Amino acid sequence: MTRIAITPGTFDPITYGHIDIIKRAASLMDKVIVGVAESTPKNTLFTLEERTELAREATRGLANVEVESFDGLLVDFVRARGANTVIKGLRAITDFEYEFQMNALNSQLDYDMETAFIMSPPKYMYLSSSIVRELASLHGDVSDLVPPCVAEALSAKFQR
Ligand code: PNS
Repeated sequence: MTRIAITPGTFDPITYGHIDIIKRAASLMDKVIVGVAESTPKNTLFTLEERTELAREATRGLANVEVESFDGLLVDFVRARGANTVIKGLRAITDFEYEFQMNALNSQLDYDMETAFIMSPPKYMYLSSSIVRELASLHGDVSDLVPPCVAEALSAKFQR
Protein backbone atom coordinates (compact mmCIF):
# COMPACT_ATOMS: atom_id res chain seq x y z
CA MET A 1 0.00 0.00 0.00
CA THR A 2 1.32 3.43 -0.92
CA ARG A 3 1.23 5.70 2.10
CA ILE A 4 0.00 9.09 0.98
CA ALA A 5 -0.39 12.02 3.36
CA ILE A 6 -1.87 15.44 2.83
CA THR A 7 -0.30 18.43 4.58
CA PRO A 8 -3.02 21.08 4.33
CA GLY A 9 -2.81 24.77 5.05
CA THR A 10 -3.43 28.30 3.92
CA PHE A 11 0.29 28.86 3.22
CA ASP A 12 -0.04 32.66 3.08
CA PRO A 13 2.89 32.40 2.47
CA ILE A 14 4.79 29.13 3.00
CA THR A 15 7.58 29.49 5.61
CA TYR A 16 10.64 27.48 6.66
CA GLY A 17 8.46 26.18 9.51
CA HIS A 18 5.99 24.65 7.02
CA ILE A 19 8.85 23.28 4.91
CA ASP A 20 10.38 21.61 7.97
CA ILE A 21 7.10 19.79 8.71
CA ILE A 22 6.65 18.84 5.03
CA LYS A 23 10.18 17.36 4.95
CA ARG A 24 9.54 15.38 8.12
CA ALA A 25 6.23 14.11 6.71
CA ALA A 26 7.97 13.16 3.45
CA SER A 27 10.51 11.08 5.35
CA LEU A 28 7.69 9.09 6.98
CA MET A 29 5.43 8.60 3.97
CA ASP A 30 5.76 7.40 0.36
CA LYS A 31 4.17 10.55 -0.96
CA VAL A 32 3.12 13.89 0.48
CA ILE A 33 0.65 16.22 -1.17
CA VAL A 34 0.77 19.77 0.11
CA GLY A 35 -2.86 20.93 -0.06
CA VAL A 36 -3.22 24.68 -0.46
CA ALA A 37 -6.71 25.57 0.70
CA GLU A 38 -8.88 27.96 -1.23
CA SER A 39 -11.73 27.88 1.24
CA THR A 40 -10.15 29.32 4.30
CA PRO A 41 -11.84 31.70 6.71
CA LYS A 42 -8.84 33.98 6.40
CA ASN A 43 -8.47 36.98 4.10
CA THR A 44 -5.24 36.18 2.36
CA LEU A 45 -2.43 38.45 1.21
CA PHE A 46 -1.54 36.15 -1.68
CA THR A 47 -4.05 34.72 -4.16
CA LEU A 48 -4.63 30.97 -4.28
CA GLU A 49 -2.49 30.79 -7.44
CA GLU A 50 0.35 32.73 -5.81
CA ARG A 51 0.24 30.65 -2.61
CA THR A 52 0.27 27.44 -4.64
CA GLU A 53 3.09 28.56 -6.93
CA LEU A 54 5.26 29.69 -4.00
CA ALA A 55 4.68 26.39 -2.17
CA ARG A 56 5.59 24.51 -5.36
CA GLU A 57 8.76 26.51 -5.85
CA ALA A 58 9.76 26.17 -2.19
CA THR A 59 9.40 22.36 -2.20
CA ARG A 60 10.76 21.73 -5.69
CA GLY A 61 13.78 19.78 -4.42
CA LEU A 62 11.71 17.24 -2.48
CA ALA A 63 11.28 14.16 -4.63
CA ASN A 64 8.12 12.69 -3.08
CA VAL A 65 6.31 15.98 -2.50
CA GLU A 66 3.64 17.48 -4.74
CA VAL A 67 1.66 20.69 -4.34
CA GLU A 68 -1.98 21.09 -5.26
CA SER A 69 -4.67 23.58 -4.42
CA PHE A 70 -8.06 22.41 -3.25
CA ASP A 71 -11.50 23.86 -2.83
CA GLY A 72 -14.14 22.54 -0.46
CA LEU A 73 -13.68 20.21 2.44
CA LEU A 74 -10.32 18.77 3.41
CA VAL A 75 -11.87 15.32 3.99
CA ASP A 76 -13.11 15.26 0.36
CA PHE A 77 -9.68 16.25 -0.97
CA VAL A 78 -8.01 13.57 1.15
CA ARG A 79 -10.42 10.91 -0.16
CA ALA A 80 -10.13 12.05 -3.77
CA ARG A 81 -6.34 11.67 -3.64
CA GLY A 82 -6.49 8.16 -2.17
CA ALA A 83 -4.86 9.35 1.04
CA ASN A 84 -6.06 8.57 4.53
CA THR A 85 -3.66 10.63 6.61
CA VAL A 86 -3.41 14.32 7.24
CA ILE A 87 -0.20 15.57 8.78
CA LYS A 88 -0.01 18.93 10.50
CA GLY A 89 2.59 20.78 12.49
CA LEU A 90 1.98 21.64 16.10
CA ARG A 91 3.92 24.56 17.50
CA ALA A 92 2.64 25.28 20.95
CA ILE A 93 -0.30 24.97 23.28
CA THR A 94 -1.96 27.83 21.40
CA ASP A 95 -2.29 25.60 18.30
CA PHE A 96 -3.77 22.76 20.28
CA GLU A 97 -7.28 24.09 20.90
CA TYR A 98 -7.87 24.86 17.23
CA GLU A 99 -6.37 21.58 16.01
CA PHE A 100 -8.34 19.64 18.62
CA GLN A 101 -11.56 21.16 17.29
CA MET A 102 -10.59 20.62 13.64
CA ASN A 103 -9.70 17.02 14.32
CA ALA A 104 -13.01 16.41 16.09
CA LEU A 105 -14.92 17.97 13.20
CA ASN A 106 -12.99 16.11 10.52
CA SER A 107 -13.45 12.79 12.27
CA GLN A 108 -17.21 13.46 12.38
CA LEU A 109 -17.07 14.01 8.63
CA ASP A 110 -14.85 11.00 7.95
CA TYR A 111 -14.17 8.65 10.82
CA ASP A 112 -11.44 6.79 8.89
CA MET A 113 -9.33 9.84 8.18
CA GLU A 114 -6.37 10.07 10.51
CA THR A 115 -4.75 13.33 11.55
CA ALA A 116 -1.18 13.02 12.78
CA PHE A 117 0.79 15.85 14.34
CA ILE A 118 4.47 16.57 14.11
CA MET A 119 5.92 18.86 16.75
CA SER A 120 7.77 21.84 15.36
CA PRO A 121 11.36 22.07 16.53
CA PRO A 122 11.99 24.96 18.96
CA LYS A 123 13.62 27.13 16.30
CA TYR A 124 10.32 27.32 14.38
CA MET A 125 7.91 27.42 17.31
CA TYR A 126 7.38 31.15 17.10
CA LEU A 127 7.18 31.24 13.31
CA SER A 128 3.88 31.85 11.54
CA SER A 129 2.76 33.22 8.19
CA SER A 130 1.08 36.12 9.97
CA ILE A 131 4.31 37.14 11.72
CA VAL A 132 6.13 36.93 8.37
CA ARG A 133 3.49 39.11 6.69
CA GLU A 134 3.68 41.68 9.46
CA LEU A 135 7.48 41.79 9.41
CA ALA A 136 7.55 42.12 5.62
CA SER A 137 4.89 44.85 5.65
CA LEU A 138 7.18 46.84 7.95
CA HIS A 139 10.12 46.17 5.61
CA GLY A 140 11.90 43.91 8.11
CA ASP A 141 14.30 41.16 7.04
CA VAL A 142 12.46 37.86 6.49
CA SER A 143 15.36 35.98 4.89
CA ASP A 144 15.81 33.62 7.88
CA LEU A 145 12.11 32.77 7.93
CA VAL A 146 11.13 32.07 4.32
CA PRO A 147 12.85 30.82 1.17
CA PRO A 148 14.20 33.44 -1.29
CA CYS A 149 11.27 33.12 -3.73
CA VAL A 150 8.84 33.97 -0.91
CA ALA A 151 11.00 36.85 0.34
CA GLU A 152 10.95 38.29 -3.19
CA ALA A 153 7.19 37.90 -3.52
CA LEU A 154 6.73 39.65 -0.17
CA SER A 155 8.92 42.57 -1.08
CA ALA A 156 7.01 42.94 -4.36
CA LYS A 157 3.72 43.09 -2.37
CA PHE A 158 5.04 45.65 0.08
CA GLN A 159 7.03 47.81 -2.29
CA ARG A 160 7.44 51.33 -0.97
O1 PNS B 1 -2.66 26.93 7.72
P1 PNS B 1 -4.02 26.96 8.34
O2 PNS B 1 -4.68 28.28 8.03
O3 PNS B 1 -4.02 26.66 9.80
O4 PNS B 1 -4.86 25.81 7.61
C1 PNS B 1 -6.23 25.62 7.90
C2 PNS B 1 -6.80 24.60 6.91
C3 PNS B 1 -6.64 25.09 5.48
C4 PNS B 1 -6.09 23.28 7.09
C5 PNS B 1 -8.33 24.45 7.23
O5 PNS B 1 -8.95 25.70 7.20
C6 PNS B 1 -9.01 23.50 6.26
O6 PNS B 1 -8.90 22.29 6.37
N1 PNS B 1 -9.75 24.07 5.25
C7 PNS B 1 -10.45 23.31 4.25
C8 PNS B 1 -11.96 23.35 4.48
C9 PNS B 1 -12.33 22.38 5.59
O7 PNS B 1 -12.30 21.19 5.41
N2 PNS B 1 -12.64 22.95 6.78
C10 PNS B 1 -12.93 22.15 7.94
C11 PNS B 1 -14.38 21.78 8.01
S1 PNS B 1 -15.46 23.18 8.02
